[in-house]
Amino acid sequence: MAGAARVKHYHAPGRVNLIGEHTDYNGGFVMPIAIGLGCDVRRSAIRKKELRLVSAQFPGELAYPLAAIPSMEKTGTWADYVLGVAREILALGMEIKPAKLAVDATVPTGSGLSSSAALEVSSALALLDGRELPKVELARLCQRAERDFVGLPCGIMDQYAAVHGEAHRAIMLDCRSVTHQLVPIPEGAEVVVVNTMVKHELGSSAYRQRVAECQEALSHFPGKAALRDVTLAELERAAAKMAETPLARARHNILENLRVEGFHRAAVDGDLAAMGKLMVESHRSLQHDYEVSCAELDFLVDTALTLDGVHGARMTGGGFGGCTVNLAEPGSVDAFEREIKARYQARWGLNPAVYRCTPSAGAGRVE
Ligand code: GLA
Repeated sequence: MAGAARVKHYHAPGRVNLIGEHTDYNGGFVMPIAIGLGCDVRRSAIRKKELRLVSAQFPGELAYPLAAIPSMEKTGTWADYVLGVAREILALGMEIKPAKLAVDATVPTGSGLSSSAALEVSSALALLDGRELPKVELARLCQRAERDFVGLPCGIMDQYAAVHGEAHRAIMLDCRSVTHQLVPIPEGAEVVVVNTMVKHELGSSAYRQRVAECQEALSHFPGKAALRDVTLAELERAAAKMAETPLARARHNILENLRVEGFHRAAVDGDLAAMGKLMVESHRSLQHDYEVSCAELDFLVDTALTLDGVHGARMTGGGFGGCTVNLAEPGSVDAFEREIKARYQARWGLNPAVYRCTPSAGAGRVE
């Protein structure tokens, strides 16, 4: 249509990780689902040779000359996720055409539901504008944007889930081979996410510290490429020579990988009790061995476990605030939501958002 700017709409989902936390950057296993909350980017072509960005969540219109993007410093704003992606696309030798991207996210920022990956992947699709990359390359490109430009040494889980999500299925991802199997969620289980509504400041520095502590733990196992390759027996043999912190971080990783595999088997068998038990064990390990939980998350997990129809509960994502993920009987979810909100409000004076999540499709163009 002459004159009217054509708007193209791209979407990428957030994710909730069912089990397998802080294992992705150690080559281990994770099991996220893509969720209904996500990030939408509407792209329109412009004349001026720049990338223009607006967000429904942040004020102002930002504009960057296309020619300046490869050598830009990071800005410290939300635009960094988009600029990081743009740089990676350019680094592949692909062109970025002048465009305005209008971003609107339904996944809350900093909630542990992967708002950054949703923004990266939806922006990447908008910037690629129909040029296709293999899915895993798209996920890797977005991970590089976050690691190398934004500066968080994250694993591949969030970007992978945003790209590969499937309706009705969880994604059992092997972060070493970067391949996945789809896992059915048994009947009789609903995934309910509860948001603490807090994000403690130490989040990203503690994340870096955990990555470093895992490297330190790994240095006790010459010849092993990642903590994923260390067995419990090997850890026990090395324990006497290891400091307490790297030992605990390694223990979490080794046991968490076993829990993901157990959870996978239990999901295939439809054994909700076993799935729930493994979620709780995962939480305790994140709380005590990995030390990435916080009082608000522990309160939500402990409270959930006193309520009817709850199979299991744990913190999800990086930690230090954000959300818990709960596996609950569908018939109990209304009462669960009422109770957990009332008790959290009474204890912390905050009204926690509750999201009922169904596994959703991965990123793509919205027609
Ligand atoms: C963040 C990172 C992921 C993963 C989780 C913890 O979401 O982006 O790569 O490490 O924390 O499991």
